[in-house]
Parts: sequence; structure tokens; C-alpha cells
Amino acid sequence: MAADNNRFQAIISHCKEYGFIFPSSEIYDGLSAVYDYGQWGAELKKNVKDYWWKSMTQMQENIVGIDAAIFMHPTTWKASGHVDNFSDPMIDNKDSKKRYRVDHLLEGYADELDAKGDKAGAEQVLKAMDALLAASDYAGLKKLIEDKNIPCSVSGTCNWTDVRQFNLMFSTQLGSVSEEAGEIYLRPETAQGIFVNFLNVQKTGRMKIPFGIAQIGKAFRNEIVARQFIFRMREFEQMEMQFFIRPGTQKEWYEYWKAERLKWHLSLGIPEARYRFHDHAKLAHYADAACDIEYDFPIGFKEVEGIHSRTDFDLRNHQEYSRKKLQYHDPELNKSYVPYVIETSIGVDRTVMMLLCEAYAEEDLSTEEKKDSRVVLKLPPAMAPVKLAVLPLLKKDGLPEIGKEIMNACKPYFKCFYEEKDAIGKRYRRMDAIGTPFCVTIDHQSKEDGTVTIRYRDSMQQERISIADIRKTIEKQVSFSAGV
Ligand code: GAP
Repeated sequence: MAADNNRFQAIISHCKEYGFIFPSSEIYDGLSAVYDYGQWGAELKKNVKDYWWKSMTQMQENIVGIDAAIFMHPTTWKASGHVDNFSDPMIDNKDSKKRYRVDHLLEGYADELDAKGDKAGAEQVLKAMDALLAASDYAGLKKLIEDKNIPCSVSGTCNWTDVRQFNLMFSTQLGSVSEEAGEIYLRPETAQGIFVNFLNVQKTGRMKIPFGIAQIGKAFRNEIVARQFIFRMREFEQMEMQFFIRPGTQKEWYEYWKAERLKWHLSLGIPEARYRFHDHAKLAHYADAACDIEYDFPIGFKEVEGIHSRTDFDLRNHQEYSRKKLQYHDPELNKSYVPYVIETSIGVDRTVMMLLCEAYAEEDLSTEEKKDSRVVLKLPPAMAPVKLAVLPLLKKDGLPEIGKEIMNACKPYFKCFYEEKDAIGKRYRRMDAIGTPFCVTIDHQSKEDGTVTIRYRDSMQQERISIADIRKTIEKQVSFSAGV
């Protein structure tokens, strides 16, 4: 899909208006590339994490989860290569002083060509960029930007500095200044918390290779080009899994995890055509093969998840820097070795954004008699922030009491929402807008025969069901095992 900025802006506004995502510290005009999750965004995000955790730990007999600290010994980042290599090529415009990531500047230019119908031109620029990045040819990248006359969006000039590397890690002080505090980093990936705990988990869990360690947690990067909503943030969350394997088996496990992870994405109910794999032209300092799973966002195909064959790079370096043996004794081979690693790394926030983009729909419901429309989030029921809305038709005649009984029967099992105010049509629209898959309406008939009307979000069909059946009917459809 070509970039659809209007749709993207509509989704961002919707997220703010309906309590999903707000700019951080908005009363002070916000903080660039930092966002807060509101009441419904926090529920959606938690559902994403729960589903990933369940599929990567509970459903896998040889993968366990940990929760390591954000602060780590500073030598971790020397050993991991982040101090020396975790940087992006940047270029500054001398007139506006605005700094750009070189790949983003060139990709933006290619997108513009594409939008103008010059597909071949766009592909040629991206191909040239990939080759120059792979060769770390910074002079060549600057020349490409100049040859294409790519201007700065602020000054409009092509007055560029040389391309330079810029480290993305945030640093802070541990301890007070008077105690001569040591400089430490906010972790830029959760993976290192797994590597430094490799032996702790392997030994205490008596894990046998192949096995994995999973983790969900915050990561921090001083992103230079920080836009595109929650796609690129300075504080974000990752869900990572390191799979420890015998050296020499990395190719087959890499393919295995590519296939497994794509299956996970498809299990969200998103069609395969909305995804593609993108092989990395320039490999990260730790990888011998790497690809991204990209989703077709309204801003174009972009990375949601990375699958990386990290060799023994991390464990071997930690072994060297810590002078502690980080080896596994393989009883079948009767041999000790430093395991190789396949990593799957997905952003929580990008998954949330993917689900919101996939779910967002503006529907025209006009009939000959009247104009009507709705905005609905067609989220998979298991991901929806609220599963069931309980809506008495009137605030009297004992209908609220029945509503409260339904709430009490259902709320221990899934997230419910109770509302009496406003016309029922308005209440349905509000529930559509936050993606609530089921609403039940209590009316006078409910008092007589113990039934309510259940309304389905996507079809807007309604039918009567017995109050006694509400919980089990909905529970079945909103659980992670029901499709999602
Ligand atoms: N441990 C490997 C690693 O961190 P990565 O490709 O740099 O690899 C993995 O990041 C995932 O983390 C990405 O696919 C993306 O979903 C998410 N991610 C990375 N940087 C991000 C940012 N600035 N904002 C939001 N998500 C980000």
C-alpha cells in the first residue's frame, strides 16, 4: 500500500481521543518521541505482552522467561559492542542545524519518488543506499544525497555536513555525584540481560540445548529521527527471545524461527499479504544473518520484528570481558562449547501500532432515510481492551440491578465495562471506537425471561441470549486459545 498519511493521522487522533495513547507530559507540550498509554492503550498493550509471553514460554516446553534489570554493569555494553558500534550514520544540515539519519533521509526521498509514480527511480536509490551502507561508505552516502539534490525539510537547502556516526545509548550516573558516581547506560536492548544470565538459567533450570530464554522489558535509544508516532520512540518495550543452539545448526534454526514468528503474526488474524520479510543488507555487528518481518503500515512497509542469527558473538565476548566461562557441556557430543544464538526481537509498541492500524475502520452506514457512519476498531477479541460492555437500556425499573449482576458474574474472568448514560446507539458507537467485541443490553424483557440482547461489534447483528450463558459464550471467544 502506498503511504496514506491521512489514515495515519486519523489513527493517531483516534488513539488520543479514545484514551489509547497520549503524548508524554502533554501539559508541558509533550516530550519528543515519548508517549504514555492511556486506560485502553494500557489494556491493549498488556494483552499483546500476555499473548507473546504465553506463546513464547507457556506453549514452548524448552523456553523460559526472565525479568532482568534495566541497569547493567557498564562493561556489559563494552562486551556487547554497543559502546563502539551502536551508532547510526547521521548527516546535519548546516543551515537549519537539523540532524537526520542518512537511511531515513534517503528512504523518505525514495518514498516521494514512489508516490510520484517513479518506482524504478525509488528502487535505484534504495539499492544504491543499501550497497553504500553495507560497505560503510560514508563519503559515498553523502555524494548520493548531494547527487539527488535531497533538501533539508526545514531549511530547504542541500548544504550538508559529512556523514558521521552517532551513538544511540543514553547514559546516566549510578550513585551521587559526590561519591564519584560511575557512568552507566539505560539498556538499548533487553537481550543483554538474557546473555549475562545464560549460565544462571541453564544451570538452575537444568536446561538442555536447544533452549530459549524470553524477556519483555523497556529499552531506551536516543533516536535522532523521532517521528511516526509510537513507531520510533526513545523509550519503548521489547519482547525478545534468545534461542541457544549447537554451533553449526544456526541456518536451520534461523529458518525455523522465521517461520514460527510469521505464524504468530498470522495468528493475530492479519492476512499474510500485509507482511513481508526484508533481509538486512548491512548486518548488525553481532549477526551472520538477519531479517525483519515488515508490516504494511499506512506509512508503508516497516519493521515490526527482527530475526537475527547472532552466532556466539555475545556469549564469547561476555566470557572474554568477565573472564567467566560461559559454556555448555553437551552430553550427547560429550563436548563443551559456547552456544550459538538465534534471536527473535519484536517491539511491543510497534505491535500495538500494527494492531491499531489493521483494526481501524471508518464505515459508512447511511441508508436512504438517514446519513450515518461509525469508526470501529476491529481488534481480535482477545486483544480488545474491553471484552464486554454491559448496558441497561434505562436507569430505572430494576434494569441497572440486572446489569450489576452481569458485571459481578463476568468481571473476574475478563475486562467488562458498565454504562447507563446516553442513548443506546451512542453507547454502541463509543464501544465500537475502542474495539469492544460484545455489548449486552438489558431491557424489560430481561426481567421477564432472563435474556439480554447481545450485539456483535463487526456485524452489528443482535440476538437474544440467556443471562446465564453470557459468561461462557464470551469467555470462549476472548481467550488467547480462541484463534488468538
Ligand atoms: N536485540 C536486537 C534488537 O534490539 P532491533 O532490530 O534494534 O534489534 C528489535 O530492535 C525491535 O525493537 C524492532 O523490530 C522494533 O519492533 C523495536 N524497536 C527498535 N527500536 C525501536 C524504537 N525506537 N521505538 C519503538 N520500537 C523499537
